[in-house]
Formats: sequence, C-alpha cells, structure tokens
Amino acid sequence: MKILNVVGARPNFMKIAPIMAAYDSCPAIEPVLVHTGQHYDEKMNELFFHQLGIPEPDINLEVGSASHAVQTAETMKAFESVVLQHIPDAVLVVGDVNSTIACGLVAVKLGVKLVHVEAGLRSFDRSMPEEINRVLTDSISDLLFCTEQSGLDNLLREGIPEDKIFLVGNVMIDTLLKNKAKAEDSDILNHLNLNGDDFAVLTLHRPSNVDDTTVFSRILDALEIIQKDMPVIFPVHPRTGRNLYSTSLGKRVDAMAGLRLLDPIGYLDFLKLMSCAKVVLTDSGGIQEETTILRVPCLTLRENTERPITAEIGSNRVVGTDTRRIIDAYDRAVDDDYHELRVPPLWDGHAAERIVRVLVDKLQAP
Ligand code: UD1
Repeated sequence: MKILNVVGARPNFMKIAPIMAAYDSCPAIEPVLVHTGQHYDEKMNELFFHQLGIPEPDINLEVGSASHAVQTAETMKAFESVVLQHIPDAVLVVGDVNSTIACGLVAVKLGVKLVHVEAGLRSFDRSMPEEINRVLTDSISDLLFCTEQSGLDNLLREGIPEDKIFLVGNVMIDTLLKNKAKAEDSDILNHLNLNGDDFAVLTLHRPSNVDDTTVFSRILDALEIIQKDMPVIFPVHPRTGRNLYSTSLGKRVDAMAGLRLLDPIGYLDFLKLMSCAKVVLTDSGGIQEETTILRVPCLTLRENTERPITAEIGSNRVVGTDTRRIIDAYDRAVDDDYHELRVPPLWDGHAAERIVRVLVDKLQAP
C-alpha cells in the first residue's frame, strides 16, 4: 500500500515524525513524504526535520507564502501532479493548516482515500482559518483519527459514520515523550542566563491577535506588568515579528527590559524552555497540549480552545486577550501547583502505532 503523507507548516512536523517512524515496522506500507513548502525558513523547517529525525521529504512542492486562496490553490495544483504520478492507496494529512485542506481536497477529487490525523477538534469559531480547514477536511475524510473524546463527539454530531472514527491519542505527545530526555541536554537555559530563575514563555502568531493592533496592544499591556515580575522569553514567529516592527508596537516591545525576544527556536530548546517555565502564555493549539503533559500552567490568549480536554484537566486556562484577565490568571497560575494533574486518556506515546495498525486493517483491499 502506498500512502502519501503531507506536511506543510511547523506544527505538522511534530505530528508526522512518529507516524513516519511507525511505518518502519510495517512492511505492508510504502510511505512517501510530501512537503508542500508552506513553511520554508531554516528555523521554521529544516531544524525540526533534523531534530525529530524525520526523513528528507521525497517531494517538496515549494509553495511558500501567499494569500490563503493563492497558497491553497498553488498547493492543490502542485499536489495533483504528485497524486497522478504516484497513484497512492491513500493520502494522509495532519492538523489544520492550509496544506491539510488543499491536499485533502485533491485526494478525494481523484478518488483517493483520505486519512485525517487530529480530526474532530472544534473551536466553534469560524473566523479562525484553521476551523474552516478542520471542518472541511473532516467532512471529506475516509478515516478520522481523534486525540480526545470531544473530537469524536463533534464528528458524530456532524454526521460522520462511527466506523470511520478512531480515538487513538495524540501523535504530538508521542513526539514530546520520545524527546523529553533529549531536551534535558539542551543548554538553552545557560544560553539565556536563566538557570535557577523563574521565567515565563510566550508565543503569539494567531492572525486574530497579531494582525490586529488593538488586540496586540492589550496583550502588551499585560506583558508590561508580567515582565517586571519575571523574565518573559518570547520566540517570535515571522508573522508576529513583521507585524510588530511595521507598527509602533515594536518600540514598546523593545522598551520592556524583561521581555526577551528570540528568533524562532528548535524543538528541543523549546521543549526544555517550556518544561522549566513557571508559566506559559500562548495562542498556539499544540502548546496547550504539550503543557498539559508537562504539567506547566498554560494561559491561552484566545477566547476559545478546540482542545477542551486541556482546560478540563486544569493546566490550561482560556483567558482571552483582556489585559486584566491575563494578569489575574497569571497571578493565580504562578501560585497554583499543577504537579498532580492527570494525563488525558491515550496520550501515552503510542498513538502513531495505533494509527498505523488501523491503516493496515482498513486500507487493505477487501
Ligand atoms: C500557519 C498555520 C497555523 C499554524 C502556524 C504555525 C494556516 C492557515 N495557518 O500559520 O495554523 O498554527 O502555521 O506556525 O495554515 N513566514 C516566513 N517563513 C516561513 C513561513 C512563514 O517568514 O517559513 C511568514 C511569511 O511572511 C508568511 C507568514 O509568515 O506570509 C504566514 O505564514 P503562513 O504559512 O501563511 O501562516 P502562519 O501564520 O505561519
């Protein structure tokens, strides 16, 4: 069975790594790795392939950045030729980025089975590009793999037949558990002179936060206070950096001595930073899950989460972007103890193996 596996953007890399590794012990599957090229910077891209031991992509579509319509359309055009050339038994897509829906749509239009890993997550906020990508990809997929019970419930509510849906756990957590010991050796804390000190970690890249100067400004108001209490380490996504320094916000950020801006950093350094942080502030989806396993408090700077299990368990607080709410949540988070929190079911490091077992079972010709 030939399976084309698609990655495009940074959060896809941690998800595909354990799946590619699980194929190694499955001679029935011939995997082909396709990189759409949505993310292309060394620091957003090669660094992760290298650190996570992902094989070199067999094919790179080199699509790059553009408007959503152009990026999606260019990916579809380029991926169609690949599918026609390879005639795979299935196309496997992960997550919720533009590459996910673009390649998914190409597959089903050519009559190729579509597999979606991380299916069913819903923020119920249709203004998020990722929510549109999730809903559309799930509606056309043949096999849907969920990380948490809410995903399964959402899919059933949307009318997806039960026999297509599998609750298998979380491939991103497979990667975290596999690399946790290796990340211990990272010297990022020394490098940043943070040994022994309390510090916070911040990431921001959602268009709703960083493309809107008013919202971004409200978040900076909170950071102005927090960075006086402890250093805030802020690896800056390219979109965020561009927006900061094309407005007066750049000057505000530069004036905050405790807010320490870095270029995007690699997986192992970031894992080490998160695991030693007193608190993490973020608008990322994956980081809400990673902090749950690390039992580090996470303040999600959004109005909703598509990963409700992280909030139910308690390490994640969805606090929005109101300055006062962020500061109050920060004050509570640094006082609470999260070390005894439980772990979501099946987030045990074996999700990718479960996925590959189902693929072998369900994709074999009848
Ligand atoms: C994409 C995903 C988002 C994911 C995020 C992780 C979509 C709709 N969004 O958002 O779900 O959480 O990746 O990072 O697919 N850029 C670079 N170098 C790169 C890549 C991007 O400089 O290697 C800059 C470009 O200016 C580009 C901008 O970042 O225009 C946005 O990139 P894009 O891939 O469109 O979306 P992200 O914001 O990264």
